[in-house]
Parts: sequence; structure tokens; C-alpha cells
Amino acid sequence: MAFKIGLLGLGTVGTGTAEILLNPAGRNALLGEVEIHRVGVRSLDKPRAIALPPEIVTTDVEGIIEDPEVDIVVELIGGIEPARSLILKAIASGKHVVTANKAVIARHGDEIYTAANKAGVYILLEAAVGGGIPILQPLKQSLGANRIQRITGIINGTTNYILTQMKEAGRDFADVLAEAQQLGYAEADPTADVDGFDAADKISILASLAFGDRIRYEDIEREGIRQINTTDITYADRLGFAIKLLAIAQKDSHTRNSLQVRVGPTLVPYKHPLASVNGVYNAIFVEGDPLGEVMFYGPGAGKGATASAVVADILNIVALLKSIDTSKGVHPLYGCFHQDYATVTPIEELETKFYARFLCGDRPGVLGHLGTCFGNNGVSLESLVQIGFQGDRAEVVVVTHDVREGNFHRAIDAIHQFESVDDIKVASILRVF
Ligand code: HSE
Repeated sequence: MAFKIGLLGLGTVGTGTAEILLNPAGRNALLGEVEIHRVGVRSLDKPRAIALPPEIVTTDVEGIIEDPEVDIVVELIGGIEPARSLILKAIASGKHVVTANKAVIARHGDEIYTAANKAGVYILLEAAVGGGIPILQPLKQSLGANRIQRITGIINGTTNYILTQMKEAGRDFADVLAEAQQLGYAEADPTADVDGFDAADKISILASLAFGDRIRYEDIEREGIRQINTTDITYADRLGFAIKLLAIAQKDSHTRNSLQVRVGPTLVPYKHPLASVNGVYNAIFVEGDPLGEVMFYGPGAGKGATASAVVADILNIVALLKSIDTSKGVHPLYGCFHQDYATVTPIEELETKFYARFLCGDRPGVLGHLGTCFGNNGVSLESLVQIGFQGDRAEVVVVTHDVREGNFHRAIDAIHQFESVDDIKVASILRVF
């Protein structure tokens, strides 16, 4: 008896998934027991890259979910609605769900997992974070013996591609974005990627698995890459750093019970392995006790890579259904049972290093004022370099030691109080990893 799949969505990842399922030879033998039963699409007229028997393709998506023969619903529609309602209906119909949808899980995981656990069905989403990189099951299983201290990810391929191109070709953000859109690497509406929403969804999923609590989406400090310019990329390079959009979740080193969760452009020292993750590639760097450091690296998006993770989830569910008495509930290593929301440390209490670039009037006292404002607010400087001039303005770059975010911003406020506001302009502020 075959395990029957109801596939929702036949875009890039849906097509890749169908291709694997239709051609199981040489892959895991369990795939021979999986059958695409029905495929839900928005339009039957759209030309498709894959030939499927026409009788299994339908626009009646709800019909697929209610079909008693379907064992596993594979949701590859993306976005919040109708994906959320369809997943909840699938659960209510007793179907297991595989999804690549990080947004719906990050923002509605609570109701989805509560319903799934009650119904005794699996919701697996390996493809939602890091595309083809195995990271969610490794966090739940292979790393389960560790106390995780920190997870740091480059988990958005679009922004990593843009930052890499800006650095390598010395081109502006807007230029590279437009080209990435033409090449199909970036969406027509790039907001989810370039403003950090996609990475925030993904880090919230990673954090909840690593630390065992749910994360409120609004608690994540989020900043994108629109303001990054080639000047900062060049100065960072000279100081020994690459600029990357990092998503970080870590135990607060002071309270130990709260978490810091944030997404933002960050200077990464070249000696750190994350600094050499370029182009559309993703990587997730996990620090745990007793393991130490481990990095998962690979293609974070794309048809084959993402479909590889989707099909692995299908395989896992098939293996569970074949070997476990499902009336006993969800297998603890494949489910998600968080009850509580994490306490997230307010950003002003974060301790981090900063990079700041100032444009200063070239007159006596300006550098002294900078130093005094930092000193008075407990901000210790690692380096202060006058890099050069932009017109008649001296360009000064500062890198701090680890400081409280609140102290740093108080220092910046004080810097703005210089006699003439025009004398010191803050050109950019970035965190340093
Ligand atoms: N838009 C995502 C990225 C891929 O650029 O990484 C899908 O998660």
C-alpha cells in the first residue's frame, strides 16, 4: 500500500518535489512506497515544467485536504493565508503536513502545533530554514545532548548574494538588487528578504528548537540591508571584516534565562567561518556544550536543494507511519511541544561590539568630543581611525569593545550634542560579531 501525497503548489519547489517523487530509483527505498495522489494548483492553464497525469492536477485545493486517501499534505504555497487555514484544515482532517513555509510556522506555530499534537499528526518543515541544509532535524536529534549557547546563521540567500556582489563588484545596493531581480534571484517585492523578515522567521524557528521556548515574532530585533553601502563594505574589509546579514539567537550571558534574538547586518571577522559564506549560500553556526562549534553549510534555496529537504520530511513521516503506533501520539523527536514563550532580553541590554562611521568637520575638538562622549558613557574603544576625507569632512571609523547597546546609543546621543550639530554626522552604525 502506497503512502499518498497531496501536493499543494507546483511552483519551483513543488516541481522539484514532484520530480524526485516521480523518479525514486537510486534514492531511499522507502520512496518507492510514496505516490503523488493529487496536486493542487491555482491555474490549470499555466504552462508547467513537469508533465503530470492531467487527472491528478486540480484547482480544488480543499478537496485534496479532505480526500480520505491522502496521508500527507505537502504545503508549498508559501505566505500566511491561505497556507495557515489549509494547514489547520489538513490537521483537522488527520493529515500529516510537510511544509517549506517559515512565515506561517514562525508566526502561527503556536496554534498549528497545538492542533497537530492534539490530532497526533506530524508537521515537518526542514525546507523552511536553510533550504537544502539539514538543520531542524539535527537540532532536534543529533545535537539533542547539547546545551545550545548560540545559533548564528546566514539564512537568507538573496541578501547574501546582494552583499557578496556589492563587495566583489563594488556596486551599489540598488544596482545589485535590480540585477538580482532580473536574474530571478530576488523577488519582484524584495521586502521579505532585504528588510530581514525572512531571516527573522527562520531564526525564530531555529531559536525555538534550540532553546525549547516559543519566540514572539515582535520580540525579534530586525534590521535589513538597504542602508549598507560600498563605503562601509570597503572600510570593514580594511579592518578585517565582511558585512553579512546575521541572524543570531543566544542565551543571555547575564540572566541565562532569557534569550537575545536578532537579525541585522553585522561585521564578521574574516577568521570566522561565516565570513566566507558567499553568494546565495547559507550557513548555520551552532555553539553548544559539550560539542563546541559546528557549522552547517550549503544551498539555502533553489528547486533541487529545497525539494531535497521536503522529500526527506516525507520520508521521515513514512518511516514513522510504518513503524510506530500513531495512536500513542507524536514521536518526541519529530514533534514540537513547547508550552511557553521565551523571555527576550531588551535590545538596550545587549552587549556587543559596534562599528560606527562619522563624517566630521575638520576642526579642533571634534575627535576629542567623540572620545569624551564614548568615555563618559562607559564605551571603551578598540580602535579609532581617521580614514580620509569626503569633500571637506574627515571620515572617522570607530570600533568599540563589547559594550551595552544602551550605553552606546547614549554616547551617540551625546555626540549629537556637539556645539554645531553639523560638525559630526553619524554616517553608519553596525554591530560587530
Ligand atoms: N527568499 C529566501 C532566501 C529563500 O533568499 O534565502 C527561501 O527561503
